[in-house]
Amino acid sequence: MAKIEWDSSLSIGVDVIDEQHKMLVKRLGDLARAVELNQGEMEIVKTLDFMYDYTSFHFSSEEKHMAEAEYPGLEFQKKQHEEFTKTLQKIVDEYREEGPTRMVVESVNVFLMNWLVNHIKGVDLEFAKYLHDKGIVLSEE
Ligand SMILES: [Fe+2]
Repeated sequence: MAKIEWDSSLSIGVDVIDEQHKMLVKRLGDLARAVELNQGEMEIVKTLDFMYDYTSFHFSSEEKHMAEAEYPGLEFQKKQHEEFTKTLQKIVDEYREEGPTRMVVESVNVFLMNWLVNHIKGVDLEFAKYLHDKGIVLSEE
């Protein structure tokens, strides 16, 4: 199975956001393991729900910071966040209807993780550069 864990190449150099990304990767790893090992419906639904809740928290936190920093890329980020949330919701629904099909397992291992890595290394890193250029330091919520 694909290895899902945090490594320093995922750091964007903004502590508040890096900490949340670490938690997201951890949640995604828990989810992938639960699905892969077919840990039982209760456990998988629980990890999916955790993942969903944490994702919503993280996206709104990022968007709040972007709005406060008057970041011009905010709308694009919002769209990406919405799409990810929709896909995650689809996976949750599919799991509820059909159980851990190959599709569900692959969606978690490949799609969600690839999306997250690309998102962090792409648009989130852009935001980090913007903050750096403007000399803005984010503080905890
Ligand atoms: Fe992010």
